Amino acid sequence: MTNIPLYLAPLAGYSDQAFRRLCKDWQVDYLVSEMVSADGLIRDQDKTRAYVTFSEAERPYGVQIFGSDPAVMAKAAAALTAFNPDFIDINMGCPVRKVVKRGAGSALMKDPACAEEIVRQVKKAIPASMTLSVKFRSGWDSKSLNYLDFGLRMQDAGADIICLHPRTTAQVFSGQSNWEHIQKLKQAISIPLIGNGDVDSPESAAQMLKVAACDAIMIGRGALGRPWLFTQIKQYLAEGYYHPITKAQILDCALTHIDYALLYKEEYVVVREMRSQLCHYAKGMPGSKELREKINHSGSTQELRVHLRQWLSGKHGV
Ligand SMILES: Cc1cc2nc3c(=O)[nH]c(=O)nc-3n(C[C@H](O)[C@H](O)[C@H](O)COP(=O)(O)O)c2cc1C
Repeated sequence: MTNIPLYLAPLAGYSDQAFRRLCKDWQVDYLVSEMVSADGLIRDQDKTRAYVTFSEAERPYGVQIFGSDPAVMAKAAAALTAFNPDFIDINMGCPVRKVVKRGAGSALMKDPACAEEIVRQVKKAIPASMTLSVKFRSGWDSKSLNYLDFGLRMQDAGADIICLHPRTTAQVFSGQSNWEHIQKLKQAISIPLIGNGDVDSPESAAQMLKVAACDAIMIGRGALGRPWLFTQIKQYLAEGYYHPITKAQILDCALTHIDYALLYKEEYVVVREMRSQLCHYAKGMPGSKELREKINHSGSTQELRVHLRQWLSGKHGV
């Protein structure tokens, strides 16, 4: 239980290179790209290159692809081998309308035969040394919970690892993840299982392990604006306690986030994208509303830094 691998979840719009690097500083074990369209990969490799690109320091690193056509998915996976990621993950859990209406993401849970064929063809298209993982939900809705059968089919088709986010597509993000589904799937399959959903503290990580006995934990929203969560979880699982984060560390982390972002993107893009990222650092803390206002009206990263410093020194204009 002490040395459980931790994954940063694929988070479209958030888990870019800068955030992944920051999480690596805080001891995350595995990183995954934001979801990348298989069609896009084949049609316009330059445009999607930014999503796929990673640095050696990010290893072990995986690229997540989505799509619905087994041949296209296999072609995209073959194209990805040029980037040499450590693993390829197939998205079968995304509930977003524009993905689902193309038969991709969690729509594949309604078509397990197609999902199986995707796994079989992708597996054939990548080197034997490259791990293939599949990420999915508990089912389409509460009347069609097929995660057990689906997981077994993915395993038989050639998946090396499975990740379960135990909510239905219909739930999107409402309600609670049902960690008992993770536990049941763990008992049914023989390949490693990553548990995902609602882990947002060291205590909840320990609780997921207790309930589900999964082989690894994947964390998404809980890490937004809180990349130190990975270190805290590791410490808690190993030693039974963890160091709380200090205000100085929060500031340092947010400033480093901006610095890292500037390594990969133009200033104006960073200013825009940091609006959503930085607000997470302040969530639930005094002055967060004022900080969000200021961040949303900042025109430069220098301004962002000033506002962050003022906020954490208590001078947040209230
Ligand atoms: C903003 C956002 C973007 C997401 N993007 C992806 C994605 O690209 N691929 C994917 O498989 N899941 C995506 N997810 C789902 C997460 O990976 C994860 O399964 C879900 O948030 C549950 O885990 P959590 O409770 O730890 O956040 C996204 C979730 C959020 C909130």
